[in-house]
Amino acid sequence: MDTSTPKKIMLSGIKPTGDLTLGSYLGAIKNWAERAEQFDCYYFMADLHALTIRNDPALLRRRTLEQLAQYVACGLDPAKNTLFIQSHVHQHAELGWVLNCYTMFGELSRMTQFKDKSAKNADNINGGLFTYPSLMAADILLYQPDYVPVGEDQKQHVELTRDVAQRFNNVYGPTFKVPEPYIPKVGARVMDLLDPHSKMSKSDEVGNGRVLVMEDPASIMKKFKRAVTDSESGAGCVRYDAENKPGVANLMQIYAACTGKSFEEIEREFAEAGYGVFKSAVGEAVVETLRPIREEASRLMADKSYLNELCKTGAEKAGYIANKTLRKVYKKVGLVPRVD
Ligand code: TYM
Repeated sequence: MDTSTPKKIMLSGIKPTGDLTLGSYLGAIKNWAERAEQFDCYYFMADLHALTIRNDPALLRRRTLEQLAQYVACGLDPAKNTLFIQSHVHQHAELGWVLNCYTMFGELSRMTQFKDKSAKNADNINGGLFTYPSLMAADILLYQPDYVPVGEDQKQHVELTRDVAQRFNNVYGPTFKVPEPYIPKVGARVMDLLDPHSKMSKSDEVGNGRVLVMEDPASIMKKFKRAVTDSESGAGCVRYDAENKPGVANLMQIYAACTGKSFEEIEREFAEAGYGVFKSAVGEAVVETLRPIREEASRLMADKSYLNELCKTGAEKAGYIANKTLRKVYKKVGLVPRVD
């Protein structure tokens, strides 16, 4: 292997606004953990983004550290990946401001997530919710990544990041690498088990349609047994048809992501089975996938000094790269460099 070629860079983040769900694990973290050998990877807890909704401060702090423990438990080796808390690297907020000035009102108004979230939180449509994608662009562009692995719902934000990067580069010359979104083939959109038309979300509501990474096996099994399918029954009812059988398609996606089996293999495996057998099998696959993660995360959560040390090392590594990009940007836009 040619070791002189630098590895490509990957970066992604998750907001610590709720407990991690099976959706964030299968749609995001699982795929990240598989990439460390091939790429130079940066992952962070997007705590500044969490502020766009109201949080209980103590809970936000706890969730941020828990998320770090869960990242590591999900297989993100801190020796091979740079793991950090967004607010520990102040360059995110600073570049976020600059990029706000290069992101158009019209572009921000078209963001689906802004429209959805403002409809859901009509009493708190704050400026941060609106300009959120500029901060997300800063998160990304600071590290000059080649790829940004995200689920389907974040693709639009990564596309806006590309537009902002290109706009800036057109005015000031090459400054930012223009990154590509990297969407997994299976698991990119894990849906709610009771409402297969809406995504499994980590919002605070305790729902029977969403499964948490830290949830106990009995409760996971119960949720899968109750998962919505359709009115078919008997041989051949387990088949992939996203449009007409969204509940079954979602369960097949989950089963495929947990076991590595293709849709054809799954259809063959359950050719003679009804939904009851299939749903239990999916539940068991999920329980076995999450069991080692839950056990390891609980162990790490008890070790606060280890987590603090991880945060410190991660912020130092990330801060070094972020600072290089921010200095370059400040110079290009005409800010006077600080003399120390
Ligand atoms: P967030 O915290 O909502 O979600 C984190 C990641 O998980 C993916 N995801 C899902 N994938 C499949 N099915 C689901 N049901 C599901 N739910 C969530 C999301 O697509 C995402 O990849 N704005 C981002 C956080 C962020 C970020 C960034 C991401 C801030 N800065 C820079 C990448 C790069 C967010 O709110 O993700």
